[in-house]
Amino acid sequence: MLNQLILVTRLNSIKVMGKKIFINNENNSFKKTIWVDGDKSISIRTLLLGSQAYGKTSIENILLSEDILNSINCLKKLGIKISFIKKQCFIHGKGLNGFNYRKNIVLNAGNSGTFARLILGLLIKSPFYIKLTGDKSLSKRDFARVILPLQKIGAKFKVNNKKTLPVRIIGSNFVNPIHYLEKRGSAQCKSTVMLAALNSPGLTIIKAKKSRDHTENIFKYLDIPIVVKKKKHHDEIRIKGQKNFKSFNYKIPSDPSSCAFFVVLTLLSKNCKLIIQNVNVNQSRIGYIKILNKMGARIKIKNLRARFGEKQADLHVKSQPTLKKINCPSSLNSNLIDEFLILFLAAAKAKGVSSFSNLGELDKKESPRLKLGSKLLNQLGIKTRLTKDSIKIFGNPSISLKKTINIKNYYKDHRIFMTSVIAAFTFGGKWKIDDIDSYKSSFPSFLNIIKKLGLKFKII
Ligand code: S3P
Repeated sequence: MLNQLILVTRLNSIKVMGKKIFINNENNSFKKTIWVDGDKSISIRTLLLGSQAYGKTSIENILLSEDILNSINCLKKLGIKISFIKKQCFIHGKGLNGFNYRKNIVLNAGNSGTFARLILGLLIKSPFYIKLTGDKSLSKRDFARVILPLQKIGAKFKVNNKKTLPVRIIGSNFVNPIHYLEKRGSAQCKSTVMLAALNSPGLTIIKAKKSRDHTENIFKYLDIPIVVKKKKHHDEIRIKGQKNFKSFNYKIPSDPSSCAFFVVLTLLSKNCKLIIQNVNVNQSRIGYIKILNKMGARIKIKNLRARFGEKQADLHVKSQPTLKKINCPSSLNSNLIDEFLILFLAAAKAKGVSSFSNLGELDKKESPRLKLGSKLLNQLGIKTRLTKDSIKIFGNPSISLKKTINIKNYYKDHRIFMTSVIAAFTFGGKWKIDDIDSYKSSFPSFLNIIKKLGLKFKII
């Protein structure tokens, strides 16, 4: 109860009484050092793996966002004790498949596609049907992508024709180690199969298009039998299942996807300098830094160190009044999949026409982000040329809006909300932005950091 209360108090640390945020405040200048919330992908993975370890796992700097709160509640429903002392999270694991299965369990993943997909991998031996639900946005997203491989491994599903939530999954006593080809560049699909492999006898072999590799890294850190061969365009992953592993200690670095909003805010503002400390700089997550540097930003990665099987560093960013257009190589798409919206904003202020292609996956996120990203830019007066999987952005470095911009009907997407707030502080004009609670699913300190930088907004 106390733990719940601590989480809820943190989530409400900015009291949001109304629905809209009002911003009328361009030309800010700041020179600051900040800390950003813990990495969402790693937070979910440490929770899931802590639930399968033997003993008490301790996690520092876990992200305390709504997605994580929902993940914790789901694991508790599966009989895993999770407690907090101050902000330190303890997971009391009971070994592989140590869930306490009961009839009629309903897991609500809220907005979290990552938790919803990955937990299915761990339910591969459930003796009863377990129902998985989510919020309106998650209930529109595709689950066929994980249902198909899990069926091959041995799970059965009750699901609608569209293969969207709610789904019911029942596991099997006869779990097969499979050969799985992951072609989308989806870390969620790859990780779901990797988690199911923990309970499979023998060798699971995955050939996966490049995507974030945190599950591989944490498997290695925990001494789970895994061999990864990195090839040019894909990785080959071999996992030997049914090996128990011990509880562990982990300190989670800051989320580079959350940092991206403040990196672009700094670049597009005048006379600003920002240092962001302790950031996860795993190569599979910093595609956006590479792209922004190609556009003329001079973002520096300093004080690089290895921790818990991942790389951490401090990011140093300065204003950059003249960004250049970019022709974004689509081989980097999986490495910056969550940062496209904020990159589109940077491209909107760059000199020349930027292009981004092979982006079909972007419309399958919390909202159809390719379409809505284009709509948002058009609302600012930026010309775009959109196809079903690509966008060209006609940048305008001298844009300075005078009009009122009203941001509503953007599917309550957290990243659209945060991109709009950064646009409001860098493009001029008077802004009214809806869906104010959305940022709490991934980045609960977002508005607190905006305040810390001295930027003004009103919530009415
Ligand atoms: C994630 C993988 C990505 C990303 C999501 C987090 C993960 O999704 O968009 O926010 O933690 O594995 P896909 O793997 O489906 O592209």
